[in-house]
Amino acid sequence: MSDDIPVRVRSEIAALPPYKQGKQAGADAFKLSSNENPFGPLPSVVEALQRQTAINRYPDATAARLRHALAARYGVTPDEVHIGSGSVAIIAQLMLAAAGPGDEVVYAWRSFEAYPGLVLIAGATPVEVPLLPDARHDLDAMAAAITPRTRAVIVCTPNNPTGPIVTQAEFDAFIQKVPSDVLVLLDEAYAEFVTHPDAVHGRTVLASGAHPNVVVLRTFSKAYGLAGLRVGYAIGHRRVLDAARSTAIPLSVTAQAEEGALASLAAEDELLERVSHLVARRDGLVAALRAQGWRIPDAQGNFVWLATGAETTAVAAVFDEAGLIVRAFAGDGIRISVGEPEAVDKVIQIAASVVGTLQAGHSARAIA
Ligand SMILES: Cc1ncc(COP(=O)(O)O)c(C=O)c1O
Repeated sequence: MSDDIPVRVRSEIAALPPYKQGKQAGADAFKLSSNENPFGPLPSVVEALQRQTAINRYPDATAARLRHALAARYGVTPDEVHIGSGSVAIIAQLMLAAAGPGDEVVYAWRSFEAYPGLVLIAGATPVEVPLLPDARHDLDAMAAAITPRTRAVIVCTPNNPTGPIVTQAEFDAFIQKVPSDVLVLLDEAYAEFVTHPDAVHGRTVLASGAHPNVVVLRTFSKAYGLAGLRVGYAIGHRRVLDAARSTAIPLSVTAQAEEGALASLAAEDELLERVSHLVARRDGLVAALRAQGWRIPDAQGNFVWLATGAETTAVAAVFDEAGLIVRAFAGDGIRISVGEPEAVDKVIQIAASVVGTLQAGHSARAIA
C-alpha cells in the first residue's frame, strides 16, 4: 500500500515528521531521555489515586478543587488558574487561541522540542532565535525579532534542553520591549530544580501585576513526579486563560490527575526533599563531566547538555550501547536526564570514554 496520506490534510501538517516517542528503556537500561523523575510515586499519592475509582463518571471539567488549591498558593483567584493535561496541552491551547495563519510566534532555539510543532499546528509561523554561545536565551535578539505579526513569545527557563535560566533582570528588561498585546509564555517546567540566585520567578512577575500579557506555565510532571498522570497548570490573566479554556479539548484532565496533583501538593515537603537530592546529583554530575573536560552549560533543570554537534548520533549510540537511553538531537547535542544514582555513575563512566574522542576545540569540550 502507498505510504501517501489517502485524504487531504493541511500541507503544513503533512510536512511534519510522523510522531515518534522517545525510545523506551529495556529492563536493564536507564531511561534518561524525557527528564522524568526517577523516584517512584509517594505512597500517599498512590493511596489518593486508589480512592478515585468512579471512572464511570466524567471528571470535573474545570478541575475546581485543584484550581482553588493553586489559587490559594499563588494569591490569585481560581479563574486566574487553568489546568491542562500536561503543561504542553496549555501551550497548544494558547497557540491556537493567539496565533493563526500569517501570525508569528517567537522562541529561542534550541528549546523545548514541542514548540515548533504546536506553532505549526495552529497554522502560525515559528520564528526561532538562536541561543547565545553559552546556551542561554538571547533576549535582545528575541525582542528584535518581534514584528507586527508576532502574537506570542515563549521564554523557557531553565531552557530545555540546554539548562541555563533567564535572570530576573534580563526578563524585566525584555518585557519592557514586548508590546503589551503580545502574549508572553514563561515556561517554568523545571522551576523547582533552579538554584541560581538571580533566576526570574514567574510568581514575582505575576505579583507585580504590571504585565497582564504574561502567562506562567508549571507542571506536575517533573519535580512532582506525575509525568504519567498528565497534569500541568497556567497562572495568568483570567481573560487570557479563558481563551485557553475555549480551545481546550473538553474534559481532558482526568479526576485521577486532579487527585494526584492535590495529593502531591499535600506532600510537597517530601517531594521537594527528593528534588534537593536530584539537584545535588545534578551538580555532582556537572562537576564530574566538567572535570573530564566537557563544556557543560549551567544546568538548572534535571538534565545536562552535551553540545556534541556533528558527533551527536555517534556519541548517543555509545550511551545507548551502555544501556543509557539519552535524548539525541541530531547535529546539535545530547540531553541526559538526572536519573537514579547508578545511572548517573554510568553516565560519568561512559562520558569519560567519549570526551577524549572529540577533537580539541570541539563545541562539547572545554577550552583547555
Ligand atoms: C520546557 C517544557 N515545557 C513543558 C513541558 C511539558 O510538560 P508536561 O506536558 O508533562 O506538563 C516539558 C516537558 O518535557 C518541557 O520540557
